[in-house]
Amino acid sequence: MKLKYTKPFGTNDICGADVFAWQYVENKIRELCADFGITEIRTPMFEDTELFVRGVGETSDIVTKEMFSFTDPGGRNYTLRPEGTVNAARAYLENGLFNAPQPYKLFYIAPNFRAERPQKGRYRQFHQFGVEYFGAESPYADAEVIFIFHEILRRVGVKNTALKINSLGGAACRQKYNEILKGFIGENLERLCPTCRERFEKNPLRVLDCKNEQCKNIIKNATAAVDCLGTECAAHFSAVKSALDSLGVSYEVDPAIVRGLDYYTRTVFEFHSTDLGAQSALGGGGRYDGLIEECGGSPTGSVGFGVGIERLLIVLNEQGAPLPRPQNPSVCFAYSGEDAKILAFSFANTLRKNGVYAEFDCCERSMKAQFKLSDKLNADFTAIIGGDEIANGYVTVKNMKSGGQERLPLNGFAENFQKYLHKLVD
Ligand code: HAM
Repeated sequence: MKLKYTKPFGTNDICGADVFAWQYVENKIRELCADFGITEIRTPMFEDTELFVRGVGETSDIVTKEMFSFTDPGGRNYTLRPEGTVNAARAYLENGLFNAPQPYKLFYIAPNFRAERPQKGRYRQFHQFGVEYFGAESPYADAEVIFIFHEILRRVGVKNTALKINSLGGAACRQKYNEILKGFIGENLERLCPTCRERFEKNPLRVLDCKNEQCKNIIKNATAAVDCLGTECAAHFSAVKSALDSLGVSYEVDPAIVRGLDYYTRTVFEFHSTDLGAQSALGGGGRYDGLIEECGGSPTGSVGFGVGIERLLIVLNEQGAPLPRPQNPSVCFAYSGEDAKILAFSFANTLRKNGVYAEFDCCERSMKAQFKLSDKLNADFTAIIGGDEIANGYVTVKNMKSGGQERLPLNGFAENFQKYLHKLVD
């Protein structure tokens, strides 16, 4: 068949057995967030373009080349959500969530959109599970948020992960570090790529994020931000590490973790998987103490993370994790003749009303084909209603595992079958 339409470049349909894996992960996320008292937030799929430009940062890859932006018929400039933190910050302010007990702890499971070059683990529409703690400066908030990430990996069963942490320092440290970095980059400017040269003036930290091999070789000799922290930022980072130690969460301090979004201050972190290939980051996050102010609020210490759900599932599949499969029907009906069809239809729907998964063949196949279907769907039982059954007032119930058969009265079959099931369980 030649398809007339196909899905947009870099997107995925989630269907068939995959849906069960998605629901499994989503259920684990919801259970986990309930244990931490984190409530869900659902924000619009698009926001004012300006919000992302100011929030994520003008020099970030997202803003410079990855946003899906459009103008609505009224001339307003909007962008499909490329990440979840900035719009959560907007919603925190707009809904007065700062009036609730702080930190205001929220989570989201939402699609994001970035015009990236698609490859394994990198798509143009992808889904993030994110957690944001607004209104908490304590290093315990950083450690708690990292622990939540650690815990979701444990609960869904992801193995072989590595946590990398770093500190970029607060506003004052960042400013001092920018000067140091500018000095170093300035001395090596001619050997750096055009993008780095462009970023050097506006945001030298972005140079540390360059993927060009020659740039990476030069940049590795630059002084690290974590070595330039002032007393308060150093104490904060040290307390984050101690809090993680107290929870038994292992980590490596990696000065190369600078994150690709501009709002980060102090702690930054990423969880990587050895089973992911080039896109090895399962997710990342950090502290962003200046973002709420950037969005028009008062200074509000905040910290959070985002995990890519597609990447989680790639790893789970590659590690052969036991993911839930489609549920098997308790009973499939196999009928022949008009009277039997009406009875099977009614029995199947009574059973469903009572919470028993029953299948009735809406395609009106032959009885033989209905048997085959029951086998294919891996039903526990097939309930046969043919001419003899109708004439003599019974239903043949075939146990599909043992092959054994029983006759149950046709009159009130749905209730009879439920009692039969209960007896089997007892
Ligand atoms: P991010 O590092 O841009 O951070 O994205 C977090 C995670 O989302 C990535 O590690 C990856 O798993 C997934 N991801 C990102 N882009 C793609 C893509 N194109 N295809 C598939 N998966 C992708 C943020 O977005 C921050 N908002 C995280 C955060 C929350 N920081 C503080 N709070």
